[in-house]
Amino acid sequence: MEKPIVVIGAMEVEVTTLAQRMDIVEEQRIHRNNLQILTGKLGGREVVLARCGVGKVNAALITQYLIDHFQPQAVINSGVAGGLSPKVLIGDIVIGETSLQHDVDVCHFDYPRGVIPSMEESTFPGDEELTALAVRAAVEELGDGRVHKGLIVSGDQFISSLEHKQQILGFFPDALCAEMEGAAIAQTAHLNGIPHLIVRAISDQADNTAPVDFNAYLMEVIPVLNAVIEKLIRSVPRPAKR
Ligand code: ADE
Repeated sequence: MEKPIVVIGAMEVEVTTLAQRMDIVEEQRIHRNNLQILTGKLGGREVVLARCGVGKVNAALITQYLIDHFQPQAVINSGVAGGLSPKVLIGDIVIGETSLQHDVDVCHFDYPRGVIPSMEESTFPGDEELTALAVRAAVEELGDGRVHKGLIVSGDQFISSLEHKQQILGFFPDALCAEMEGAAIAQTAHLNGIPHLIVRAISDQADNTAPVDFNAYLMEVIPVLNAVIEKLIRSVPRPAKR
């Protein structure tokens, strides 16, 4: 059987609306940490769709679990994010060419912000082919000006003040958006040698209006995000048969 494509979302809404498009074969729930894993087909392809819960630890845990159990051909992280760059607006799609953890702070030992001591890499590149396919799918949905690719930063923090946003941009001036799982999924996939990609829809501007905007726009941006994810999955080349 074809190796599946794993899709991971943090919150219930990020997963259930995509699950509605899926032909589900099996549902598995792990109550200890409120995980949900759906196996089936989406866009004619074998897919494992999982809800991991919020934050980097939950995200890394499920990524390793899914890699061990399903040996996927690729891992895709789908969800919402707060815009950091002024060119990224609510409703836009951001594709993670690279990602890192903005809250890793070992500066007292002279490591730059975001650098994990004793690791070869702390910035994780999204798969190039998946990036190109995702950009194409997103441009088809939204048009050119509303699709961005570049650096996505993750941390165990919901960014909801201008001060915090500017602090992150001070460390990472090229960051397009901030969220809470992507780089953890990226790091886990990278260490396992599995191609990955983070695709995010912007729900807020990661400033003082973020809590209100997040609730107001979440359900508006998710259908577009899901359409991009489904198009991307349909376009992933099937692995050559051995
Ligand atoms: N996900 C969506 N909006 C976010 C924000 N402002 N900060 C962190 N994660 C987010």
